[in-house]
Amino acid sequence: MKVAGTVRAPGDKSITHRALLLAALGRGVSHVGGALTSLDARSSARVLRQLGATISPLRESGVLTITSRGRFRAPERTLDCGNSGTTTRLLLGLLAAHRFRATLTGDASLRRRPMRRVTLPLAEMGARFEERAGDGLPLTIRGGPLRPIRYAMPVSSAQIKSALLLAGVAGEVEVDLREPSGRSRDHTERLLRAFGYDVVERDGWIEFRPGGRIEPFDIQVPGDPSSAAFLVGASVLAEGGELRIAGVGVNPTRTGFLRVLERMGAPIATEAPDTSFGEPVADLIARPAALRSTEVTAGEIPGLIDEIPMLAVLASRARGETVFRDVGELRVKESDRLGLIAGNLRAVGGRAEVRGDDLHVEGVEHPPRGKVRTAGDHRIAMAFAVLGTLAGARVAIDDMVCAAVSFPGFPATLRRIAARRSR
Ligand code: S3P
Repeated sequence: MKVAGTVRAPGDKSITHRALLLAALGRGVSHVGGALTSLDARSSARVLRQLGATISPLRESGVLTITSRGRFRAPERTLDCGNSGTTTRLLLGLLAAHRFRATLTGDASLRRRPMRRVTLPLAEMGARFEERAGDGLPLTIRGGPLRPIRYAMPVSSAQIKSALLLAGVAGEVEVDLREPSGRSRDHTERLLRAFGYDVVERDGWIEFRPGGRIEPFDIQVPGDPSSAAFLVGASVLAEGGELRIAGVGVNPTRTGFLRVLERMGAPIATEAPDTSFGEPVADLIARPAALRSTEVTAGEIPGLIDEIPMLAVLASRARGETVFRDVGELRVKESDRLGLIAGNLRAVGGRAEVRGDDLHVEGVEHPPRGKVRTAGDHRIAMAFAVLGTLAGARVAIDDMVCAAVSFPGFPATLRRIAARRSR
């Protein structure tokens, strides 16, 4: 199989959510170009419309227009965040400063995901919560005036960090945060700086000071490195060809997977560097490689958290045993990703095991064959679809539709770049 051509990855999911949320807070008209149009982005747009924003329909390669009155209004109905944890947790931060009640829910996967990681610190700031189902959704929030917080986060998570920073913005209070290990993505910090807020790092603490102002803005969203990672994976596993993925966000808090791939013997070149709204952007150029194993340390995990399914699949084709240290967070993603990665690798004839919070994957040479269970998790579906492009592979995936959560048209894009030579 040869993987070749030039493609664009869909718009960055994290930046699209943040751009929509901030545009809905800034009184006036904002424009978001290159926005992701996937199901998760639609979830953010849907709930923000319920809170009073006017948002144009999400169409691929269009520019979104968001018109806002500045503050949210009380929603008439429950806010359904679909499959999107980012929508839910970041929105809770903004709602914490709004003096009305709102109930949030989501699909079966999202309802099971932990929310106390944001509701406990937001309650410390002054928001009130009514849980309906323990640590999960549905959940009712009643916001109001907030107090400053100085908070050592129990896990490194951009969603917790962003929820508290956005509470600081909407409530105009100081927020100091500390992440326990490794740095999670810093898109919120970068955006807030662009709006004149003081967000500095001092002695391991992220310190936010109110004083900026969310004004209407125009932004161009870069391609999503997490989506690009699947295309890179297909190219690395191929027998020939060269793939260029144009205009991908290469913020260092998102590109940990490129550093791991380099150690595995698959250097990915970057070309045409640029900057867009404080975010670095470049083309990624990927080629086939003979992979070797590596150890991914606990400190590296936050910078590649969403790429572990793809990296684990690549590790299953590398010489030797790869270890991912301290990846317990994967148990509370869109699925129990940790269990599913290991179980599915074994189901297709690979060798993988979870020991404590570590994931061990040993490379094999025989073609992968078997059935993959996604539990509706987009990244599991896409990672194993890439494995299925190997010569001689027979990988049956129970649900490819879920890829639309983050990557609209993924199967078609994969088919387009992967021209089969032989089987
Ligand atoms: C995201 C943060 C990550 C990531 C998710 C998107 C974000 O979650 O897994 O896909 O946009 O802030 P955590 O921060 O909970 O690790």
